[in-house]
Amino acid sequence: MGQMKISVIGCGYLGAVHAACMASLGHEVVGVDVDAAKVAALASGRPPFYETGLEELLGQTLPSGRLSFTTDVTAVAGADVHFVCVGTPQRADSYAADLSYLDAAFRALVPHVAPGALVVGKSTVPVGTAERLADELAAVQPDATVVWNPEFLREGYAVQDTLHPDRLVLGVPGGDAGERAVKILDDLYAAPIAEGSPRLVMDRATAELVKVAANSFLATKISFINAMAELCEVAGADVTSLADAIGLDERIGRRFLNAGLGFGGGCLPKDIRAFMARAEELHADPAVSFLREIDSINTRRRERMVHLTVGVLDGRPLAGARIAVLGAAFKPESDDVRDSPALDVAVRLHERSAHVVVTDPRALANARRKAPSLQYAETVEEAADGADAVLVLTEWRQYRELDPHRLLGVVAHPRVVDGRNALDPAAWRDAGWTYRALGRR
Ligand SMILES: NC(=O)c1ccc[n+]([C@@H]2O[C@H](COP(=O)([O-])OP(=O)(O)OC[C@H]3O[C@@H](n4cnc5c(N)ncnc54)[C@H](O)[C@@H]3O)[C@@H](O)[C@H]2O)c1
Repeated sequence: MGQMKISVIGCGYLGAVHAACMASLGHEVVGVDVDAAKVAALASGRPPFYETGLEELLGQTLPSGRLSFTTDVTAVAGADVHFVCVGTPQRADSYAADLSYLDAAFRALVPHVAPGALVVGKSTVPVGTAERLADELAAVQPDATVVWNPEFLREGYAVQDTLHPDRLVLGVPGGDAGERAVKILDDLYAAPIAEGSPRLVMDRATAELVKVAANSFLATKISFINAMAELCEVAGADVTSLADAIGLDERIGRRFLNAGLGFGGGCLPKDIRAFMARAEELHADPAVSFLREIDSINTRRRERMVHLTVGVLDGRPLAGARIAVLGAAFKPESDDVRDSPALDVAVRLHERSAHVVVTDPRALANARRKAPSLQYAETVEEAADGADAVLVLTEWRQYRELDPHRLLGVVAHPRVVDGRNALDPAAWRDAGWTYRALGRR
């Protein structure tokens, strides 16, 4: 495998992991970010966010001298491959993706792209973006090529997913430039390809669409089971048994059929909204109008969680009630609170004058920054101290495995609302708790 010189522009959850993983594959990598604090942390081996295995990987690769981080974009000069990994969040004024970070990063990068180099987009973008950027690059450096190589990593498993991807999608232009780009990327990703990761070559528009289509499908699967949960709630049925039963059909599958508080994070919600916005621009909005319903089923779950909490209080007003919220991250094994359903429910309860105390094993610092008006506690015991109700809103393993007997002596009233269907109802009821969950009796 040939060792290559690589730059990674944007060192957040995606870029920092990608940079460290590419260095661990033997390439020489410079990571560039506009956030000086992030760069300083990464350069000293301290990940600025929680991701399993990243600290160890930085510890192995930084001393080798093959990995460096800087705020100086001129450091990318001479790289064979430039990966663009900056954020593409939702715009403040619409559903569309905010491409200002991508455009700024690209404009800063272009003057330093050498003839023959590849500019490889990994950010999730509206279809058509790669062609537009390719035109811009061609005007300055006609001998360089734009490729779209969407990223499918899952936060919490990002190192594993980057080193052992379940597929590599390469969106390339036609002709010699495309063939050459595939050869370079086959060389760069030689290790995962040799291990058997399927590598799919397609045009750039299809590659861009693969990513948003995959996320739309996953969001649909989650909202489908949550819609069934709504039905189960009014019909007195049990959505977890329903999911087990339909999930045994191989065509359906049990994964991503866990009813609960729904999806959040920095990808699924903004990706399905950006997809709708882009489809509208392309006059194809009917094709994805179902995503509007997927989105609204998802957000309805949050208000339903508030209603369940009011219900479990047994007539006691929510205002002034002490509510322990277990979980702030949008999912376990992450400190990411972007569009976190857990934090959203905590804020909704706080806005209705409940006395909310939030805890999380990893996400407290980010949660404090995002929702400073909430009260936070380091431990479950502290959060649950004197609680009128305990809410499990992120299914961390340590919350799944909580001992209902141990918490009995801590709370004021043994009432638990399981927003993730993560607890064993019988065990909690047997221990004397009032147990409520989304989609089941
Ligand atoms: N986080 C995930 O699980 C994941 C998975 C697959 C795809 N993606 C996609 O990857 C992209 C990045 O997501 P993320 O979660 O890493 O976001 P992030 O916010 O964690 O990271 C983005 C980084 O880009 C930096 N940045 C912004 N403008 C810059 C510029 N002009 N030059 C250099 N750096 C700049 C920011 O400072 C930040 O560190 C998004 O398009 C996202 O949809 C993310």
